[in-house]
Amino acid sequence: MAIIVISDPDRDFLQRLEKVLTSDAQDVEVIHAATPAEAADVAIERDACAVVYGPATSQPAAYSAAERVSAAAGMRTANLLISRTVDAELLRSAMRSGFRDAIGIEGATYGDLAAAVTDACQAALNYRSATGDDETASAKVVTVFSTKGGVGKSVLASNLAAYIASKLDKRVVLLDLDLEFGDDAVMLGLQPTRTIYDAVQAYERLDAELLDGFMQKHQSGAKVLLAPTQPEHAESITTARVSGIIDLAKELGDIVLIDTPGRLDEMVLTAIDRSDEVLAVATMDLPSIKNTKVSLQKLRQLGYRNGLVKLVLNRADSKVFLEPAEVERAIGGEVLVRIPSDRLVPRSVNRGVPVSLDQPKSDVAKSLAELAKHVIKD
Ligand SMILES: Nc1ncnc2c1ncn2[C@@H]1O[C@H](COP(=O)(O)OP(=O)(O)OP(=O)(O)O)[C@@H](O)[C@H]1O
Ligand SMILES: [Mg+2]
Repeated sequence: MAIIVISDPDRDFLQRLEKVLTSDAQDVEVIHAATPAEAADVAIERDACAVVYGPATSQPAAYSAAERVSAAAGMRTANLLISRTVDAELLRSAMRSGFRDAIGIEGATYGDLAAAVTDACQAALNYRSATGDDETASAKVVTVFSTKGGVGKSVLASNLAAYIASKLDKRVVLLDLDLEFGDDAVMLGLQPTRTIYDAVQAYERLDAELLDGFMQKHQSGAKVLLAPTQPEHAESITTARVSGIIDLAKELGDIVLIDTPGRLDEMVLTAIDRSDEVLAVATMDLPSIKNTKVSLQKLRQLGYRNGLVKLVLNRADSKVFLEPAEVERAIGGEVLVRIPSDRLVPRSVNRGVPVSLDQPKSDVAKSLAELAKHVIKD
């Protein structure tokens, strides 16, 4: 049963559109929503194929609802804006906010509108079957997270990507979502000739194959979608588009790793929303521990399930007065893996060669390998 949600204050519009939509299709359920926000809630909860925001709805409310739907559902659900008239400017801003299309009602019949809605719903359903037909396309998405900078997120993400691709025989995609200051290119010795910025520019026609073309191939076999080379390009990269890119990346890898900036913003929440596991990285100093504790509390408040987040302690043998057990108690969670501090790490970072491959016998490489084996588990 395909579910289509329509939001518009005008009951006549709702009923007429519903009538045409259901007239010759038995397997369509149409749900009316009083407001765009309610439409978004229902669409996410019922996994609708399309949400239609009618011509009398408030456009700002429709925009924020569409952004929410596309952050939560990616291309599983198509947002459609129906407006009195549609010009290029409106179409562009609608697309940027996660609408699949904007349709003008001037000169259009209810049959035309219903055809556009049916097409959008069908495209969302096709997308689902192409990616494995259900919530969980087989890929596992893992976000490396900390609200603090410099704790080793990028070291971990780049090493995990390279190690899993070359030693554990999995297809790996690494997305660098530290859009302003992403370091994965440097850490993996890759040239940022193409980046996520290019993928976003081509978003309207983006599919997995095209996305693949925007990724840099590391010699380990990992594919990496690099951060933009110019920090100001980060602004044009919306959460809705990143959400779609994560979905497409799942077609290209068994494991999709996401590196993030050191903060908890909408972009990072989008990555966490789409993740099967979150690796929270902390180091052995009080500010890092305090930050980790607070950010994990925040994630719990936001309703993320227990068990989504796993703790990784980096630089765990530093000559500090804190014991790992104390850290676990303070953060209120069990540490999955402890990565020791080692001068080999900055040395490998500076050479652009992951330490896990370059110095496999070192303790730091062994603990990264242990973490990698955990990450590939279902
Ligand atoms: N286990 C380790 N031993 C020694 N040095 C380390 C270790 N892990 C990370 N470092 C060093 O710490 C620095 C910061 O690491 P990294 O860039 O991965 O942090 P980050 O959390 O990604 O920071 P940002 O949020 O600023 O991107 C690196 O240059 C690296 O050399
Ligand atoms: Mg980083």
